[in-house]
Amino acid sequence: PKEQTLAVIKPDTSEEHRDEILEEIQAGGFTISQLQETVLSREMAEEFYREHRDKPFFSQLVDYMCRGPCTMLILTKENAVEEWRAMMGPTDPNDAKENAPGSLRARFAKDILENAVHGSSNTEHAQEKIHFLFGEISSGSELINA
Ligand code: CMP
Repeated sequence: PKEQTLAVIKPDTSEEHRDEILEEIQAGGFTISQLQETVLSREMAEEFYREHRDKPFFSQLVDYMCRGPCTMLILTKENAVEEWRAMMGPTDPNDAKENAPGSLRARFAKDILENAVHGSSNTEHAQEKIHFLFGEISSGSELINA
């Protein structure tokens, strides 16, 4: 069955890299069910990353995510959550360069904070964050088969 995940191209990513990432997403067989470019407010960024609120890097993370436009995507494919995570590679680009050299973070991330892209870690989170960022309409079941 098709699955949805939430992908975010973060504010440090250049337009050129963003276009390359969007092309790779499509070449990878994902359907881009929704695409929205947004500058997050602090409140939205804090809510989006609330699972990380106790981490020492939380305020830096929020600053970074509000710094410029994010491209938010709903990606649809079989096994979309895992496949998008594999395409991104590990959180830390040093790790990515060593263990997943072709991955997006190996190629485009600056460091462990400014790591170019985000993806939901499981289907539950994906639905929650999709609903939070896109609202009722876009998280409807009709998109599952897009
Ligand atoms: P992401 O996969 O979007 O989930 C949480 C984000 O926090 C992560 O990508 C990075 O942007 C950031 N992050 C994770 N670990 C660290 C860390 N050790 N130091 C700074 N930022 C981090």
